[in-house]
Amino acid sequence: MTSPASRDKRPLQTAELYRYVLDHNPPLDPVLRDLVETTHARFPDRAGLQSAQEQGPMLAFLVRLIGARRVVEVGTFTGFSALAMAQALPEDGTLIACDISEEWTDLGREAWARAGVADRIDLRLAPALDTLRALPAEEGIDLAYLDADKENYIAYWEELVPRMRPGGLIVADNVLFHGEVTDPEATGAAAAIRAFNDHVLADDRMESIMLTVADGVTVARRL
Ligand SMILES: C[S@@+](CC[C@H](N)C(=O)[O-])C[C@H]1O[C@@H](n2cnc3c(N)ncnc32)[C@H](O)[C@@H]1O
Repeated sequence: MTSPASRDKRPLQTAELYRYVLDHNPPLDPVLRDLVETTHARFPDRAGLQSAQEQGPMLAFLVRLIGARRVVEVGTFTGFSALAMAQALPEDGTLIACDISEEWTDLGREAWARAGVADRIDLRLAPALDTLRALPAEEGIDLAYLDADKENYIAYWEELVPRMRPGGLIVADNVLFHGEVTDPEATGAAAAIRAFNDHVLADDRMESIMLTVADGVTVARRL
């Protein structure tokens, strides 16, 4: 079944092709699947905030690919991407999840507990910039997932880059911002993403690629 959230996140594909992509990716496990459904049932007006279904397996794949043990997520909502990454961590791995909404993340906490990974997830309810700035300068982060307020993406990037271990990945979501990034007159979040994308491109501390996954995903590797 295709959820409304995933239908919203396929600007480059037909519904048929999108279904085909989902069918040729690892299926979501029952807790992740249930979290998609519950998020739509509990927060129908905000469910579009959830990362697209194919991003769960993609993030899990990246965590396993680089053998990540220390993950930071900026923007957790109801916990879908955090759960997908936490499930891919080794038992002693940790994921710091940054958000400001107790109501939304409460749903995540329930799902993390049901999936048996709650002990790997350290939820920090505070402005994410404060949480990142409080992390030790030599944090040695393996993977960071950026998916919160777009106006702060550059500030998050600047806090994260020095804390990434060499070879560590920053994955940034919504870098196409529903196609609005091509508009030089863009304002608000779209303008912030335009500035972020230029900032990333010019940063010689990182090697970056922009992928047309969902609403656009940049994957950047610390050199
Ligand atoms: C797009 S949603 C994240 C979706 C999530 N990655 C998922 O897969 O379900 C963005 C989240 O960022 C949070 N957020 C917005 N501004 C924030 C801030 N300044 N600090 C921390 N979290 C923030 C919102 O509360 C919201 O839950």
